[in-house]
Amino acid sequence: MRAIDEHTITEAALEQMASTTNPRLKEIMAVLTRHLHDFAREVDLTPEEWLEGIKFLTAVGQKCTAYRQEFILLSDTLGLSSLVNALHDRRATEAGTKSSLVGPFYRQDSPTLNLGDTIVTKPTNGLEVCLYGRVYNAAGHGVPNATVQVWQPDETGNYDLQKHDPSEMDLRGTFRTDADGRFYLRTIAPLGYMIPMDGPVGDMIRAQKRHGYRPAHIHFIIGAPGYREVVTALYLQGDEHIDSDTVFGVTASLVTDVRSKDPDSPIPNLPTIKFDFQLPAAAAYGSGRVGADPSQIVAKVAS
Ligand code: BEZ
Ligand code: FE
Repeated sequence: MRAIDEHTITEAALEQMASTTNPRLKEIMAVLTRHLHDFAREVDLTPEEWLEGIKFLTAVGQKCTAYRQEFILLSDTLGLSSLVNALHDRRATEAGTKSSLVGPFYRQDSPTLNLGDTIVTKPTNGLEVCLYGRVYNAAGHGVPNATVQVWQPDETGNYDLQKHDPSEMDLRGTFRTDADGRFYLRTIAPLGYMIPMDGPVGDMIRAQKRHGYRPAHIHFIIGAPGYREVVTALYLQGDEHIDSDTVFGVTASLVTDVRSKDPDSPIPNLPTIKFDFQLPAAAAYGSGRVGADPSQIVAKVAS
């Protein structure tokens, strides 16, 4: 009989998992197990410490609801979501706009709006802007009829999902590009905000003495048949946390600014935020969304 000790345990666990029939699941679980065991050996993990870890992960799960996704927040704050995004971008077969985080505040089925409409549904003190740009492909041609999903926080840095009635949608919309691949809409300039700090992830951020802020940004999911979906966000130049995003979503190519006078604005006399998005050709593998509508995740787990 094999003696199980702190070294032989890893091979013993891998042997038991070797009968996994799905080859990708087998690979992922084997490597995860090896790294977890190496981690425990490296830090000489004590039973009390691992119990703390189990309590923490339990609290993360308990915090999740149809309006709150604490596990996405954990993945984001550990830098794992952005790492997975970077790996996803590396697999693209054509150049495209870089990915950025979905975050915990995405909702599917946002209202379908017409070009030029506003996504603001509530009274606001925010600075009204025209958000516009073009969706184009590797050949430089505009992509007509592309779906542009937009969502953002308000001028105080809050999303609709964080308000007293989270079932009411605000500051989100789904648009279609015109025949030249152009889109334009009215919105307000967003403010940066602190990630939700009232759960176990907030406790972790405080224990690590991190500030917890995200710089001001606007989220996008852009798709069209034959193209790879681009899941990204634009970040506003000048935000004090642009170089220290708590969730590592900012990359230089996604930083833009609010222009007070823009002669090219499709809505005259409004300040503008402009960005053109490049869609790469569709690839054989899945989506770039590290995240989902929180209600969908909860529903899947329940079914
Ligand atoms: C967000 O951009 O909405 C977000 C992303 C990660 C953590 C918290 C918020
Ligand atoms: Fe966000």
